[in-house]
Amino acid sequence: MTLAANHDAATTAELDARAKAILRGNDRGGYTVPTEGLYPYQWNWDSAFAAWGFAAFDLDRAWVELETLFSGQWANGMVPHILFHREDAGYFPGPDVWGAGETIPSSGISQPPVAATMARAIFERDPQAGAPRMAPLYDKLLAWHRWFYQHRCESGACCITHPWESGRDNAPDWDGALKGIDTSNVGPYTRRDTSHVNPDMRPTKRDYDCYITLVQFGRACDWDEAEILANSPFRVADPTMTFILLRAHRDLKWLGTTLGHDTTEIDGWIAELEAGVESLWNDDVGVYDARDLRSGELAGSPSNASFLCWYAGVSSPKTEARLARILSKVTYGVPSYDPEGPLFDHMRYWRGPVWGMMNTMIGMGLADAGLTDLATQVRDDTAALIADHGFAEYFSPLDGTPAGGGTFTWTAAVWLGWASPSAQKGA
Ligand code: DGY
Repeated sequence: MTLAANHDAATTAELDARAKAILRGNDRGGYTVPTEGLYPYQWNWDSAFAAWGFAAFDLDRAWVELETLFSGQWANGMVPHILFHREDAGYFPGPDVWGAGETIPSSGISQPPVAATMARAIFERDPQAGAPRMAPLYDKLLAWHRWFYQHRCESGACCITHPWESGRDNAPDWDGALKGIDTSNVGPYTRRDTSHVNPDMRPTKRDYDCYITLVQFGRACDWDEAEILANSPFRVADPTMTFILLRAHRDLKWLGTTLGHDTTEIDGWIAELEAGVESLWNDDVGVYDARDLRSGELAGSPSNASFLCWYAGVSSPKTEARLARILSKVTYGVPSYDPEGPLFDHMRYWRGPVWGMMNTMIGMGLADAGLTDLATQVRDDTAALIADHGFAEYFSPLDGTPAGGGTFTWTAAVWLGWASPSAQKGA
C-alpha cells in the first residue's frame, strides 16, 4: 500500500497537526499516557516513543518525558513497565495489586528497553543542547541495561518473567509456557480493559487469569529477582526483548563513547546477546522464536518479533524472504502473526494486527541493513494505514480496521518521527 495519489502537502500538514494534538492531549504534565481511559498511567516503552515523537517539535518536552520515566527507576536499576503517578480507578491491576515501587508506586516488571535508542535519536537532533540532559540519563540507562544483564540474560538471550514484560501481551509466543500455569487461586477480580474496548480485540479471560496469577506470584516474592528466577512458573526468552536490548546496547555504547566513557562493559553485553540470539532461531518454522526456559522448548510462533533482527544489526536472508512473502499476503504490513499461520486473528491484539511502532523498528532496521525496497514498503504501508484509518493503537492488516485504544500516543509519535512525508524529508 502506498499513500494515495491525492495525499498532498495539505493532507500531510493536517495529519502532522493531528499527531501533535494527540501527544499534547495525552500529556499529563511531564509524562504522556498511551491513551485516555484504557491506559491512564505512564508506560515504559510507550513513553520512550512519546519522547521521540515530541522531539519532532518540542525538544525540551522530549527530554522531560525520559527524565520522568527514569524518576521511577528502582535502586537495583530496573525501570518499571508502569509508573502509577496518580491513581485512576479505570485501570486494573493498579498500584494496590502490584504492591511495588520505590520513589513512585509502580509495577514490578520492566518492558522492552527502547529508551537508549530514542535518547540517542533525541540527542542527535541537537547534541549541544542535549549534552546536559544526556549526561545524567546515560548513567541511569547504563544501570538499567546492567539490570537486564544481571536478571534477564542467564540463557544468553533476554527473557521475560511476565507476558506484559514483552509488551506483546497475548502473542502466541507465550501460549505453550502459559499452559501449565495453575490459575485456580487467582480469586475474583474485575477487568477494566474490556469496559473501554471490544473484548474481541483483547486477551481472553484465561490469559488474564494467568497475568494476574503471575502478578500475585511476583508480589508474594516481594519482587525479589533471585526468588522469581528460582520459582516462577513463567520464564521465556523473547526475540522482541533480545533484539531491542541488543540495539539499545549499541546505541548506549555510541552515547557512552560520545560522552567520553569507557564502554568495555557494554561491549561484553553486546557479544553475549549476539551469540544468545542464535539460540532463538527455529529452523523448522524459519523464524527467531520464543524459548520457554523452563522446558527448553521453542514456541513455533511466526510473529513479527523475528523481523526486528535488522534493527539489532543481525542479518538473516531467510527472514528477508519470509517478510517479503507476508507483505504480499496483506493490505497493510506487518501483521504481528503470520496471516497463513494457524492462530492468525486479524483483530485480536498481538495475534494478527499491525502495530505502528513495531513497523517503525522493523523499517529502521531494514533501512540500516540497506534493504531499501522492503524498508520503503513497510514505511509506505504504515503511512497509508495512518492516513486512511487514523491514530489507533493497532489495526487489521487485512482492511486497516482500527482496533484497541483510539488517539494513541505511539501511533502519533511514529507518524511524526518516521512515517509522515515531512519526517521523511527531514530524514
Ligand atoms: C494492559 O493492561 O493491557 C497492559 O498491556 C499491561 O501492560
